[in-house]
Amino acid sequence: MKAWQVTRLGAPAEVLELVDVPDPERAPGGVLVRVEACALNFPDVLLCAGLYQEKPALPFTPGLELAGTVLAADDPALVGTRVLGAPPLPHGGLAELAVLPAGAWYAVPDGMPAEEAAGLLITYQTAYVGLHRRAGLRAGEWLLVHAGAGGVGSAAIEVGLAAGARVIATAGGPEKVAVCRELGAHETIDYRSEDIAARVKEITGGRGADVVWDPVGGDVFDASRRCVAFEGRLVVVGFAGGRIPEVPAGHVLVKNYSVVGLHWGLYRTVAPAVVADAHEALTRLYAQGAIRPMVSERFGLAAAPEALTRLAARGTVGKVVVLPGS
Ligand SMILES: NC(=O)c1ccc[n+]([C@@H]2O[C@H](COP(=O)([O-])OP(=O)(O)OC[C@H]3O[C@@H](n4cnc5c(N)ncnc54)[C@H](OP(=O)(O)O)[C@@H]3O)[C@@H](O)[C@H]2O)c1
Repeated sequence: MKAWQVTRLGAPAEVLELVDVPDPERAPGGVLVRVEACALNFPDVLLCAGLYQEKPALPFTPGLELAGTVLAADDPALVGTRVLGAPPLPHGGLAELAVLPAGAWYAVPDGMPAEEAAGLLITYQTAYVGLHRRAGLRAGEWLLVHAGAGGVGSAAIEVGLAAGARVIATAGGPEKVAVCRELGAHETIDYRSEDIAARVKEITGGRGADVVWDPVGGDVFDASRRCVAFEGRLVVVGFAGGRIPEVPAGHVLVKNYSVVGLHWGLYRTVAPAVVADAHEALTRLYAQGAIRPMVSERFGLAAAPEALTRLAARGTVGKVVVLPGS
């Protein structure tokens, strides 16, 4: 089969090679799938550069989440069904075929196209587990979502709205701010031209945000500390901006807020029931029309490096997917 491999570390366009490799082998309990769609995530860019927390040995195939059709399984009745999941590295989803191990795949919700289903695992689970389990988001609370037009940001807007939160979304530039509005954010802030903390205070009547969703870090995190509400929860999701911020414990104490770490991937090994429950909840939300992964760009397998380059350059909104069969 054809697969992209990272052969040395660096920018995706410089280090990815399209190669012919043997088909991946399925262990008992796992499923072999034809990849219909592989959803890209910022961590794919970090993986290529060797900057992600997980550092697979070279060469490896990136692509952290996918949807596809089962070609082989222990139970013959599964063959031909549609599943989504996270293929463990080094055999990621930027390939024609992939293996999802036992317990690491879920049924695609009825009627959901593969290009949308591919993003339902990491992207939406991160939003769902982060906002509900880690932050305890309640209906009526103010939720501040940073980088709201991005992958986990757009999912957090939708999951937050479905939970009954009042959503303030930030984004860089008027086009991305417009995307946040389209997703249903009640209020928006262009953080390239507006002061985050001042605007959040103004919007919330001085209260601040009850929950902050921060996949950016750096200055955005620092601004969030200035506008988090009494008993607020600031969720540390990622550092797309490049700088990992510091947390002064005295500030956390004096303002009476919590800084909540989120590493969704850990749930897969430490508490897999949380992932299964979240999948059921997300399937219900999809059936109700409350969530719908926003697929903005589609690429064929040959164009995967170009897709990752656009993601790395901050040039994309919502989800970017690679469709190996197209
Ligand atoms: N904690 C977890 O379990 C978990 C799970 C999944 C992802 N993540 C993390 O969440 C972050 C976002 O991932 P994603 O897949 O949603 O990425 P994405 O779709 O590329 O979105 C990231 C957004 O961050 C903003 N950004 C700000 N500064 C940036 C910079 N210097 N370079 C690139 N983007 C910048 C951009 O929005 P604007 O242009 O509007 O600023 C961009 O759209 C990553 O750090 C990732 O590692 C964490």
